[in-house]
Amino acid sequence: MMADALGVEVLKLVNEYVVIDTVKIASLLEKDHQQIVGAVNSLRSLGDVIQTEQVSNKHWQLTEEGKLFLEHGSHEACVFEAVSAEEGMLQEELMKTSPNAKIGFSKAMSAGWLIMDKKAEGGPRVKRKVTSIEDIAKEQVMKVQAGGIDSIPDKERNELKKRKLIMEVVVKSFKVSKGVNFCLSVSKLETDLTPEMLSSGSWKEQNFKAYNFNAMGVMPVSGHLHPLMKVRAEFRQIFLEMGFTEMPTNNYVESSFWNFDALFQPQQHPARDAHDTFFIQDPMYATEFPMDYLERVKKVHSEGGFGSQGYKYDWNIEEAKKNLLRTHTTAVSARMLYKLAQLEEFHPVKYFSIDRVFRNETLDATHLAEFHQIEGVVADYDLSLADLIGVLHEFFNKLGMEKLRFKPAFNPYTEPSMEIFSYHEGLKKWVEVGNSGVFRPEMLLPMGLPEDVSVIAWGLSLERPTMIKYGIDNIRELVGHKVNLQMVHDNAICRLDKGNK
Ligand code: PHE
Repeated sequence: MMADALGVEVLKLVNEYVVIDTVKIASLLEKDHQQIVGAVNSLRSLGDVIQTEQVSNKHWQLTEEGKLFLEHGSHEACVFEAVSAEEGMLQEELMKTSPNAKIGFSKAMSAGWLIMDKKAEGGPRVKRKVTSIEDIAKEQVMKVQAGGIDSIPDKERNELKKRKLIMEVVVKSFKVSKGVNFCLSVSKLETDLTPEMLSSGSWKEQNFKAYNFNAMGVMPVSGHLHPLMKVRAEFRQIFLEMGFTEMPTNNYVESSFWNFDALFQPQQHPARDAHDTFFIQDPMYATEFPMDYLERVKKVHSEGGFGSQGYKYDWNIEEAKKNLLRTHTTAVSARMLYKLAQLEEFHPVKYFSIDRVFRNETLDATHLAEFHQIEGVVADYDLSLADLIGVLHEFFNKLGMEKLRFKPAFNPYTEPSMEIFSYHEGLKKWVEVGNSGVFRPEMLLPMGLPEDVSVIAWGLSLERPTMIKYGIDNIRELVGHKVNLQMVHDNAICRLDKGNK
């Protein structure tokens, strides 16, 4: 490819002058200086066709006010012209002739061009004192414009400066001279070695552009973690620090059996209504259950056992088979505890999970039909409420929450149950941060866990701490089709204050 037309013009001038400044080139070609600098830069990219050296020159140029003089004459000349040679002009009116009339008037007065008749009829009147004037200021401004500021004596030059008619500017330009590969029509260097060049052998004759190792690379495009995933990673880290193992939560669809029945939640419990839970239509029913365990669950619901009276109702397997979108990750905990109970010998475990759950909720600024639950479970011999309170303190301290309070609550599967409150220093009040409890024997014993093993557990949402952390007050800005991807891109990494206050 050839250098473009402007480039060729530049090369011709370099050839002619040997060394030439871009400002000079611009004036010779009657182009804008920036345009010439652009052309020189693209010539530079062609290899050593030209050599350049940056220079900076101070030079004087007209201010906007100075440029007015070129067209209309100086302010003082304008005022002189406005005053009629015969009648003069009322001072008051003269002042209205232009925004610069006042300064023009005072200059014309001190130049001795005008006089004032203060006692004239109708108010002070301005009259011409001379018949003609020489507009020196305009002439000087014209000289500056033509680049001839050097011919103006210092005193007058200072006057122009003081009147803010001229200003000094720094112009960065290039001195251009011939490079070792100088020629008048250049072709662009090849940047790619193509298969055609290789097969024809033409690569031997080609001139290739050298690598520019200082060039900045293109920013690689990459994905960005959603704030929820960033906060999840932090919670996961806290659990891992505390020696917990992650449970497999990769099943959104669960049977009512594991979501409710295994957790000793009676079949007529309101949460099992379609208003609260999303049931699956296809496949509507789950088919595989550990049948002997299922029989024990049925028995503890309908007749009781393990020291419990049960609920005394007709437990129906059809209800337990119904598929649903899990309403809590405690369904996963139930599966894991059942699995644990099947081992030859019991050993203590600490489990956690952080994953999505679904509830048929009325949507508002803080509720969606799906959210993430964080759940911790500890199974060991003789755990008590004190152990639960202790582990909750450790867990929440790692989140920077030191002041905790517990309030009695109810869950079908835990007894006792406690809501967890933390004192929010910003809001200056106690806010609910989670739910917890000791799993009931009616849940654990049918699984086959030893009688002296207890299981403590707690749960909280991932969305709440994320919204607080990232200052988001509408959940729709965090989840769903209204999420601004730029928000995901821009949000900082998450560092939860892990209790080092
Ligand atoms: N499953 C409870 C909920 O959905 C949380 C919880 C987990 C409570 C474990 C007690 C024990 O809110």
